[in-house]
Amino acid sequence: MSISTADMSLPEDPAKLYPPTIVAPSAPLPLWRFLPVFLRNPLRALPVQVYHEPMFVPPAMGGRLAWVTGPALVEEILLGNHENFPKSPIERRIFKPILGDGILIAEGADWRWQRRTVAPVFRHGDLMALVPRMSAAAMQTIERWRTGKPVGNVRIDHDMTDLTFDVLQATIFDGATEAEANQLKLHIGAYLEHTSWDIAYEILGWPEWVWHPARRPMLRHAERLEQTMNGIVARARAVDWRGDGLTARLGRARDPETGAAMADGQILNNLLTFAAAGHETTAKALTWCLYLLARAPEWQAQVRQEVMRIAAHEPLRAEHVEQLQITRMVLKEAMRLYPPAPVMGRKAREATTFGGHRFSAGSMLVIPIFAVHRHRKLWVDADRFDPERFTPERSQSYARTQFMPFGFGPRTCIGMSFAMIEAVVLLATLVRDVAFSCDASLAPEPVSRVTLRPKDGMPLAVRVLLR
Ligand code: HEM
Repeated sequence: MSISTADMSLPEDPAKLYPPTIVAPSAPLPLWRFLPVFLRNPLRALPVQVYHEPMFVPPAMGGRLAWVTGPALVEEILLGNHENFPKSPIERRIFKPILGDGILIAEGADWRWQRRTVAPVFRHGDLMALVPRMSAAAMQTIERWRTGKPVGNVRIDHDMTDLTFDVLQATIFDGATEAEANQLKLHIGAYLEHTSWDIAYEILGWPEWVWHPARRPMLRHAERLEQTMNGIVARARAVDWRGDGLTARLGRARDPETGAAMADGQILNNLLTFAAAGHETTAKALTWCLYLLARAPEWQAQVRQEVMRIAAHEPLRAEHVEQLQITRMVLKEAMRLYPPAPVMGRKAREATTFGGHRFSAGSMLVIPIFAVHRHRKLWVDADRFDPERFTPERSQSYARTQFMPFGFGPRTCIGMSFAMIEAVVLLATLVRDVAFSCDASLAPEPVSRVTLRPKDGMPLAVRVLLR
């Protein structure tokens, strides 16, 4: 098992880019190897069959785990039969200590009322009003690079986390102080770093009381997050939820069916949910996208030309966003190859026959988006970077669950519009004013830690373009 690099798989045409991927084990791992490999990088535990077949049931797991990648089966789990396939307990186990029963974890009636109450807060038209704040945050990052004149490479993964957090601070927690925002960023990142223990234990069927070395630090980070968020919510309530940021709008939101408002604890849980679900994901989308553009200078030039043609040197505004087609194509192709949330999980509520297999109640059905997006039967030349796949015409030819960075069905990402607007605005602003490059040998392994991180970080050279 090794990581392929562009150089190792260099095709005849050097303009073709095959960025790093995981070379899958040729057979499912026996149980004694599964845990150490999984803890290192859960994607390395996916056997090659997962990339070729619509569903694969690894024999070592006693038939209680399946990896599902075929679009029809995925659609059945997430839409057609979703009542019988609730979220797997993995997410609850990982996130409950920091997100309580917020919208990401809640089930049944509790989830439904939260979803319909929160949905209007994420209306596309209202989000467009946030574009100037997003582009201002990107321009501040460029200004920091310009005045800091970085010699050598910058850690683009760190800078993108800072940038997407700046956006959250300007749009969602608009009442938070710099210190509070830093606390949130620090503790969310540190908490997520430890989650593979809980995921592995859940897959192996080990109960929550079984000790693991990450338990204590995780609880400490959870406490700090709650303290910080309590302060932000209390201040927003003290001014009667005035303001146009998402915290205030959540405070003012009412269930359209019953008129009920959320209690402060639920607002807190959901704000932390937006923070946890909404900044690392977008940061990783941008990190991988800038890496690909550093490796594919001809696409970088095309994005730059497009932004110049549409917005010239102006800060991006709402009316520019829809027009940035090439930028959006590149972003989608980056999220295909490196889906920021690489794995989703569901469980069988009752014993059931699915995909020709008999599963007992509680069996886990895992949808590895990473493998769906590189599936050999779904994509031509699946590991190749090719934004042309996402021209409007070609996009229409794909099955609905073939490209699914935001999930699918009723539990699809509620922040999808927010994330797409944000990522397009940030990417366009950055690429217009900065040239990105990297060593030809840079090929970081994609590691699944709830989000898809580049192992050992993403060092890129940035050169602010003089205008
Ligand atoms: C590129 C950025 C993002 C990606 C790739 C992403 C991906 C996803 C995926 C795959 C799911 C579905 C999980 C499942 O069904 O098991 C999801 C759910 C969710 N996301 Fe996102 N997300 C992104 C950005 C955001 C943002 C910006 C927010 C909020 C500000 C957000 C909030 C949520 C919430 C609350 C859910 C749970 C929805 C529910 O269960 O009803 N996400 N996201």
